[in-house]
Amino acid sequence: MIKKKYNIFIACDTTNLSQVKKIIHQSNTSKLNIGYKFGLEFFNSKQGRNFISQLSKNISIWLDLKLMDIPNTVSSAIFSLKDLTNVRYLTIHASGGYEMMLAAKQAAKKSNKKLKILAVTVLTSFSENQLKQVGHTKSIKNIVIQQAALAKKAKIDGIVCSGYEAKFIKKICKGMQIITPGIRLEGDLKQDQKRVMTPKLAFNNGATGIVIGRSITRGNIKNNIQKLISSLQ
Ligand code: C5P
Repeated sequence: MIKKKYNIFIACDTTNLSQVKKIIHQSNTSKLNIGYKFGLEFFNSKQGRNFISQLSKNISIWLDLKLMDIPNTVSSAIFSLKDLTNVRYLTIHASGGYEMMLAAKQAAKKSNKKLKILAVTVLTSFSENQLKQVGHTKSIKNIVIQQAALAKKAKIDGIVCSGYEAKFIKKICKGMQIITPGIRLEGDLKQDQKRVMTPKLAFNNGATGIVIGRSITRGNIKNNIQKLISSLQ
């Protein structure tokens, strides 16, 4: 039996509308709680925004825009999404700071009562070495813990981090969502991701939801969904 609380977001990373429709159609199953994540690639494509605006309110929609700017600009950017009343989740970068996170949360409250803000911590494509290259001196784990605590203080609804850090923040983030990208089905290639984990392990580590893209959308989507279901049983 798969726990119903398992939330799975499929990353629709393409500019091709037919491909997005295919992903939504072929991933349909009553056995999982499936939502769809749209990033800048699809949102900025010619038909992307309009297509997202027309999706049913019953579909869990996550707009992964990873906003980071001065508080006023982030707040204004969130107001500009006001017409997308069906969107349930929006990402910002935790590294934008406390004031920016507060501004984002306040803008969400005013513009779309159902919109939850998720703070992205260290991208799953970063290794410890790559993080040092951009000037960080702390470990990934400690940065994620620090940013998660700050996001909690700003009353952000959820944290995005890898499955490796999920277990270290689940105590401080009690009641918040913890969503982990960098998910691969057993045997699949990591590609550009570094901190990668299987769905089951991510949930065991405390994730309340996972984001999975290429492991589902490359190849036969229906078969990949079955593989995902079996891996969670
Ligand atoms: O194909 P794959 O499963 O690697 O896709 C992961 C998705 O999750 C991508 O859409 C990526 O933008 C997103 N993401 C991530 N790491 C984060 C936040 C979001 O990989 N920290």
